[in-house]
Amino acid sequence: MVSFTKILLISQTVLSASLFGILGNEQSLTLPSRDERPIPGGSPISVCDITEPQLLSIDSVIISPNPPQRGQNLTVSAIGHLTKDVEDGAYVDVDVRYGYIKLISQTYDLCEQVGEVDLECPLSKGEYKLSKIVEIPAEVPPGKYTVFARAYTKDDEFISCITGSIVFNADRSWKILG
Ligand SMILES: *[C@@H]1O[C@H](CO)[C@@H](O)[C@H](O)[C@H]1NC(C)=O
Repeated sequence: MVSFTKILLISQTVLSASLFGILGNEQSLTLPSRDERPIPGGSPISVCDITEPQLLSIDSVIISPNPPQRGQNLTVSAIGHLTKDVEDGAYVDVDVRYGYIKLISQTYDLCEQVGEVDLECPLSKGEYKLSKIVEIPAEVPPGKYTVFARAYTKDDEFISCITGSIVFNADRSWKILG
C-alpha cells in the first residue's frame, strides 16, 4: 500500500518542480493563460473561459490610441456576432483589479449598459459593429488594471467572457522626480 507520507512527498516534489518550472522561465509568466484567446485587432483584450460555449463571438476589437493613455479619449471599435437573441434580464459580472487589489466586483444590468452604445434589448441575433469613445481621466492612478467581464442571459446562459489588462505608467515628471 502507498503510504500517506509517500503521497505527500510526491506531491511536494511535483509542486516544487512546477513552481521552479514557472519561476525559472520568466516568459511563461507573461504568456496568456490557456483559458484565454486574444481578440484580433491588436488590443490588450482577450476572450476568456474559452472552453465554455458563449453566445457572442467577437471577431475584432480595435482601440485608439493603443495602448490607452491617461487623460485622453479612447476609441473602441468592435465587431461581433450573437448566435441567439438576448432579452431583458441579462446581466454582466464585472471584476476590476488594481495590481492584486480588487477594486470593483459588481453585477450590472446588461440591457442598461448596451444603451451606452445606442443598443436596446432585446438584442436580436446577428452581427454587431460598435464604436464608443471612453474618456480616461488624467487622475487615474498609475499601475496595472485587470478587468474581467462575464455576461449571462436572464436564464444564465453564458453570453461572453472578456478580459483585458492595461498598465498606466507614471507621468514623465514622476519619473524625473523618482
Ligand atoms: C473627449 O471627448 C469629449 C467629447 O466626446 C470632449 O468633450 C473632450 O474634450 C475630449 N477630451 C480630449 C482629451 O480630447
